[in-house]
Amino acid sequence: RGSRSRPSTIETERDFGAMTTGACAAIVLAAGMGRRMKSDLPKVLHRVANRPMISHLLDALSAISSERTVVVVAPGMTQLVDAVAPADTAVQTEALGTGHAVLAARDQMQDFTGDMLVLFGDTPLLTAETMQDMLTARSAAENPAVVVLGFRPDDPAEYGRLVTAADGGLEAIVEFKDASAAQREIGLCNAGIMAIDGNHLFALLDSVGNDNANGEYYLTDIVELARDRGLRCDVVEAADPVEVMGVNSRAQLAAAEAAMQARLRDRAMTGGVTMTDPETVWLSADTKIGRDVIIGPNVFFGTGVTIADNVEIKAFCHIDGAEVASGVSIGPFARLRPGAKLERNVHVGNFVEIKQALVEEGAKVNHLSYVGDARIGPRANVGAGTITCNYDGFFKELTDIGADAFIGSNTALVAPVKVGDGATVGAGSVITSDVEADALAVARGRQKSIAGWASTFRKRRKAEKDAAKTKE
Ligand code: UD1
Ligand code: CA
Repeated sequence: RGSRSRPSTIETERDFGAMTTGACAAIVLAAGMGRRMKSDLPKVLHRVANRPMISHLLDALSAISSERTVVVVAPGMTQLVDAVAPADTAVQTEALGTGHAVLAARDQMQDFTGDMLVLFGDTPLLTAETMQDMLTARSAAENPAVVVLGFRPDDPAEYGRLVTAADGGLEAIVEFKDASAAQREIGLCNAGIMAIDGNHLFALLDSVGNDNANGEYYLTDIVELARDRGLRCDVVEAADPVEVMGVNSRAQLAAAEAAMQARLRDRAMTGGVTMTDPETVWLSADTKIGRDVIIGPNVFFGTGVTIADNVEIKAFCHIDGAEVASGVSIGPFARLRPGAKLERNVHVGNFVEIKQALVEEGAKVNHLSYVGDARIGPRANVGAGTITCNYDGFFKELTDIGADAFIGSNTALVAPVKVGDGATVGAGSVITSDVEADALAVARGRQKSIAGWASTFRKRRKAEKDAAKTKE
């Protein structure tokens, strides 16, 4: 196992392809109701790092070039069927156990004779590297028919135990409920993930019965059945037990989120990102960040964010669906919403919200502004408190600000409206019609001064107050 620097690059994906000796397919079990989640949403659709748990697995499968993937669902899980497309689904009509669930995919996999991975849909942290390790073990010289992923949890609790043979192979998997006291002492547990020779999988499953403590058809029984037929079984031990962490409850979902965030931060820092306080930075699975990016404390990244090189994101920014070019400075306390596109060297300062807007090279929006449905031309300066009034309660309209324009503080730009190149808008203006290039537009009451008014006023009011006091 080499270093694991940047697992999601295209080159790495090609490496996996080259390492796979034969074709591989995958069956992902997701028919469980996930009752402990107390949710109307199928368990595997709950999100980790802003992506459904099952999608993390499907991504890893595409990295190892799974030729065919079938997700086993329960009747009525239409939302799940839509979410996993284009992966195929098979319906397990009744939840009769993990072995029974795999059989639901039989029709789709019948003619497949390569390696078959069987995965559980609720293990979002499982990596493509580990899947590849299992396929590599499957194609070893000893030709094991079944390779099982093992791990040593701090508390083996109710996990199935792996019984190993004198020759180092795997003899059987015993479910906790069915295990003897001596077997329960075994620390090596079944993570639930298997790589199986496709020539044998369904024949082995046909022999699985349900004579056990749960009355279920256990996938795990195929190990003993394979041994009975003189086939070898092996164990691959997970390098990091966190990878096989299963999610059954909201608390475990939070634990998986924490583990995934740690992984994503680590990957970003390995790629050349500085984080002042990494544990307060929240990333999405698809967040893309370049080199020499500095991220301050308490920054949140939603989905669909791309940050180029040499960007500084100061504390307390919320960034979602935005594209940021190099040399940009954001925050503190800035919010970029979907469709915000900042070109090179743009400055976006505190308490600025930008939505569906193109901010062109070198433009500045530094304080207390809302910019929505707009274009801000190169080098334009948008003053403090400028608001694009983009919505009239019915339609969203565009604001277009030209190159080198200067928008005075506290300007309301009532869209649709255009400010020409090089134009200036006086502070406090409400701009309702287009401003010509290089013009000055001022739209507010003209200032009027009355000499001596204030001192006369003070004198009169003081006299009135004094008179009121003597009356008392
Ligand atoms: C299973 C393993 C156990 C292992 C543990 C690891 C078996 C018999 N036991 O136990 O050895 O240590 O996982 O977490 O395999 N599912 C279906 N249809 C079914 C039953 C389950 O699709 O009829 C799916 C579930 O949605 C879930 C997965 O299979 O994604 C695992 O099922 P679960 O009941 O959680 O198995 P465990 O009892 O945890
Ligand atoms: Ca489980």
